Amino acid sequence: MRVLAIETSCDETAAAVVDDGRHVRSSVVSSQVDIHSRYGGVVPEIAGRAHLELLGAVVEDALAAAGTTGPGLDVVAATVGPGLIGSLLVGVSAAKAYSLAWDKPFVGVNHMEGHLHAAFLEDPELALPAVVLLVSGGHTMLVLMTREGRYRLLGQTIDDAAGEAFDKVARFLGLGYPGGPAIDRVARDGDPEAISFPRGLANQGYDFSFSGLKTSVINHVRRHPGVPVADVAASFQEAVVDVLVTKARRAAAELGARGICIGGGVAANSVLRERVEAACAADGIGAFVPSRAMCTDNAAMVAATAWHRFRVDGPTPLDVAPDPNLRLPLEPQASSAGEVVAGRGVECSSGS
Ligand code: KG4
Ligand code: ZN
Repeated sequence: MRVLAIETSCDETAAAVVDDGRHVRSSVVSSQVDIHSRYGGVVPEIAGRAHLELLGAVVEDALAAAGTTGPGLDVVAATVGPGLIGSLLVGVSAAKAYSLAWDKPFVGVNHMEGHLHAAFLEDPELALPAVVLLVSGGHTMLVLMTREGRYRLLGQTIDDAAGEAFDKVARFLGLGYPGGPAIDRVARDGDPEAISFPRGLANQGYDFSFSGLKTSVINHVRRHPGVPVADVAASFQEAVVDVLVTKARRAAAELGARGICIGGGVAANSVLRERVEAACAADGIGAFVPSRAMCTDNAAMVAATAWHRFRVDGPTPLDVAPDPNLRLPLEPQASSAGEVVAGRGVECSSGS
C-alpha cells in the first residue's frame, strides 16, 4: 500500500511517500526556520502562508523522488492535529483535494501518534511493550506502547514541554531559535556539573515539570552575570536529560518493557540519545533511537501512521476538520490494564 502523507502542523512543510508503512520511498522536509528565526519563534500567520507557498513543490518533489505519480498512490494522508490551525488547514485542505482529484482514500493522522510511530520506520522489529519518551516543542509524554497503535499514557508535563524549556532558556541566553540545537551545540564546551539545577518531580510518578528549571536558570544567570554560557547550557541540558532518562528507565523496569524508544524534536539531542543508549545497555533492554531526521517533524512518520490507521479504521471522512488541540489517546477504550486505543479524534494538548 503506497501512502503519500503531508505534514504541516507547525513550521516544517513536509511530504513523503511510504510503502506498506515501512519503506520510505521519499521524505522531503522544507524547513521554515530561516523565516521564523528573526522573530525568535514560530509566527503562526507567517507559517500558514509559507506552507501555502511551499507545499505544492514539496509534494511534487516527494512524488518525483519516489518515482511515482498521484494515480500510483493508494492513500493520501495528512496531519489533522495537534498544531497551528492555519498551518494544519493548508496541509489538510491540500490532501483532501489530492484525494478527490486522484480518487484515493484520505486518512487524517494525529501528529503525536506520528512521532510515536516513527521508530517503526527504522526498526520494524521494535520489541514491544516499549516505553516511549515523546519529547517535542509542544509535548512531553511518557507512553507505554503495548502493540502497534495501542498506547497507555503514563505521564506528561504539568507545565512546559521539554522542547519549550530548551527554546525559552536558549532565548534567555541569547542563543537564538530554535533553542534545542543551539543549546546542544553550546553545551559541548560546558561543564554539565557546573551548576546543580533542580530536577522537577524527579522522584514522583511519571509526570514532568520544567518551568521551575527554566526559572532557576534565569535566576542563576541574573545572580551570577559572569557565569559561562556554555556551563549554564550544559547544566540545564543535564537536568532535563537526567529527569527524562530516569523516568523512562524506571517506567521500563516497573512495567517490564523490552525497550525504551524516543521520539519528537528533543530526541535529536545528542546527550539524551547517548544516555538512553547507555541506560538500556546497562539494563539489558533495547534502545530505539531513530535517526535525527525521523525525530523532528517529517511526513514519513505520518505516512507510516496513516498506513496503520487505514488498516484499522479505514478512510477518514472528508468533512473532518483540523483540530489544533487533538489529543492522544482519543477514546479511552478501557481494557483491564487501563490501556487505551489511540485513534482519530483523540485529543492532545496543543503545541506551543
Ligand atoms: O517535534 P518537533 O520537530 O516539533 C514539534 O512537534 O514541536 O520538535 C521541535 C522541538 C523544539 O523545541 C526544538 O528546540 C527541539 O525540538 N529540538 C531539540 C534539538 N533539536 C530540536 N532540543 C534539544 N536538542 C536538540 N538537538
Ligand atoms: Zn512534532
